[in-house]
Amino acid sequence: MAYFPTDKFKEIATPFYYYDMALLRQTLQTVADLAEKFGCYVHYAVKANPNLKILTTVREYGIGVDCVSGGEIRAAVDAGFTGERIMFAGVGKTDAEIELALETNIRCFNVESLPELENINAIAARMNRMAHIAVRVNPNIDAHTHQYITTGLSENKFGIEVGELEEFVKKALSMKNVDLCGVHFHIGSQIRDDEPFVMLCKKVSEVLVLMEKAGALISIVDVGGGLGIDYDNPDGNPVPDFERYFKIFKDNLRLKPDQQLHFEPGRSIVGQCGSLITRVLYVKEGVSKKFAIVDAGMNDLLRPALYHAHHKIDTITSDSAVDDVYDVVGPVCESSDCFANDERLSLISRGDMLALRSAGAYGEAMASRYNCRPLPASVFSDGL
Ligand code: LLP
Repeated sequence: MAYFPTDKFKEIATPFYYYDMALLRQTLQTVADLAEKFGCYVHYAVKANPNLKILTTVREYGIGVDCVSGGEIRAAVDAGFTGERIMFAGVGKTDAEIELALETNIRCFNVESLPELENINAIAARMNRMAHIAVRVNPNIDAHTHQYITTGLSENKFGIEVGELEEFVKKALSMKNVDLCGVHFHIGSQIRDDEPFVMLCKKVSEVLVLMEKAGALISIVDVGGGLGIDYDNPDGNPVPDFERYFKIFKDNLRLKPDQQLHFEPGRSIVGQCGSLITRVLYVKEGVSKKFAIVDAGMNDLLRPALYHAHHKIDTITSDSAVDDVYDVVGPVCESSDCFANDERLSLISRGDMLALRSAGAYGEAMASRYNCRPLPASVFSDGL
């Protein structure tokens, strides 16, 4: 089992997110080394975890950022990223966000519709700037992941259909304040099979031919994020297999020498380094179940309630050889505030601490103040 400094945890009010910074650094080093080996570019998807300390650590490894709101652009700038390292995606960019991005001199906008293209051109003209843009293409590929996190199907709201690309390119090339230099794809998240990525490569190749025919000079080929992590066995697989992932694209995409291959991983970079640490408030004997009622709730970690996600639970202050089966539930007034049903844990009692593992991505980032609960704190292994 992973090491948790439980002696030090005793002083800290729960619930809190605990980040294993050595693991984060090991993951980032792996990504940076492989990016160099394969000659590709990596932009960390800030949405997975915008915590300032996480962002500044990511920056130290020469990795850029993929932002989806003005707030994320500001968070990136606060963490020291220069505009050149920032990409800006999202279906609904406001005028204020587009202005902020232009003022920040970001590397590239990922544009998702014709009206958005027109708006970016108009704002850039008003500000006397050139907006570098990539067109987000909807490749209509099923990523076989949860319906809420699949994004590359025609029925999803994201991107432009392949059939509409020619018109998009024509429009973009006629505009004075946009420079169409990239194509962008993202098919979904928590993808653990190679097949959807191989299919994506096929689609990207087709789109590149189409773009060339339409007269666009493409230098950025951004294939998004989506690489999954092992939620069942975080200790067995702490660092996702980035080598295999990058290699799929290197083997299946033939890019020109002046074309850069870009990735936007979020979960795979920060997922395994974070755990939500919570204390058992009460063990309650139900009619047919035993409930471990903990002090973290769905407001602290939404993924189980929203996606029926399962985070492995470790009992970190009890090493009882005897175990029992519990429903691990939070204090929020909803039945969906449940982290696990029928979870086998070593015998626990009031005051014991649990670690909900693999919570570094979309954990703290999606926390809310529902039920007027405070936001969870963050604690870093190198700060204890
Ligand atoms: N690029 C784009 C355009 C995206 O929409 C996303 C994630 C990423 C990159 C990063 O994907 P990743 O490498 O993290 O899979 N809240 C959900 C996940 C939502 C993902 C949204 N888009 C969850 O907790 O599972």
